[in-house]
Amino acid sequence: MRDELAELSELARAIADAQRTPAMLTGQAQQLRRLVERHSSLAIDATQHMTEGESILPSGSAISPVQAALCAREPLRSAAFIQGLAQAVTQRLRDDRPVRVLYAGCGPYALLALPLMALFSPRQLQFSIIEIHQEALVAARALIATLGFTGHVSDFICADAAAYRIPAGAAPDVIVSETMNTALGKEPQVAIMRTLAVQAPGAALVPAAVTVHLGQARRSPAEPCSDWGPVFTLDAASIRDWEQEKGSSLPGASIRLPEVLDQPPRLLTRIRVHGDIVLGDYDCSLNLPLALPGKPSLEPGSVLHFYYRLGSEPGLAFQLQ
Ligand SMILES: C[S@@+](CC[C@H](N)C(=O)[O-])C[C@H]1O[C@@H](n2cnc3c(N)ncnc32)[C@H](O)[C@@H]1O
Repeated sequence: MRDELAELSELARAIADAQRTPAMLTGQAQQLRRLVERHSSLAIDATQHMTEGESILPSGSAISPVQAALCAREPLRSAAFIQGLAQAVTQRLRDDRPVRVLYAGCGPYALLALPLMALFSPRQLQFSIIEIHQEALVAARALIATLGFTGHVSDFICADAAAYRIPAGAAPDVIVSETMNTALGKEPQVAIMRTLAVQAPGAALVPAAVTVHLGQARRSPAEPCSDWGPVFTLDAASIRDWEQEKGSSLPGASIRLPEVLDQPPRLLTRIRVHGDIVLGDYDCSLNLPLALPGKPSLEPGSVLHFYYRLGSEPGLAFQLQ
């Protein structure tokens, strides 16, 4: 195990190194994934249906433990999230108590937390970990214990993070959650971040912002996507703005389609993890251009009024003027 811990520490130092971009760290993120797979109690059974164990919550779908484990196979995404979380924590280190991180939706590997546990001592950093699926939480807890990091976790909580009440006096300094799908559809990222951030308004959010734009897919890998502007943003400022929104939807922007529409419109998901660490178009599965719901055929020049539908099937929707 000493060799494994030395490997994890070295990987953590590399991934947290602000001089390197996430794109330079995909090798380390792959090595990290192999390390957690070697020690995890969760078996990835290729014959098992991937969605077996998925839950439909009042705020969206919580993916199954196996699907959550497979997220670790997207190395650029892992590198960006781990580096962003490491920077957010480093900026909040203090002498009088550990930095408190609330990790909502850890999956079976607690992949975003483990490298930070190797970098910081329990006196510097404490996690509260929330996960809806008992199987994933048990696996994450066992992996953390195997690697000797139990002292870094103040609470393992099996609960719906979108309904979680933060105990008095335990407001986190950082809230991290990676419970999203393309264009913030299906999964409960919006509801989770909203619920937790209003209870800890001073906390840094990781990711800091997820913005969905309307545009068109790129024509070739060398070209950018066409971008007609943002339709919805999830960040600390928008969460504050939604304070008075009590209904089943959140406001988005209106966009007029161009007069010439040679390709169908697409939703483009851009993620600012922290500072200048971003996941842009095509960087990972979350950033793939997505057809509008219902794949409507739209007239050039039409105006689309977007809104975000909350509930068990969350996602962007629009009305035509
Ligand atoms: C994409 S996976 C996260 C993987 C994790 N970031 C990692 O690196 O391994 C999302 C996880 O969040 C959990 N989850 C989804 N919605 C949740 C909710 N409302 N409350 C608690 N956990 C939730 C899922 O069960 C799943 O394990």
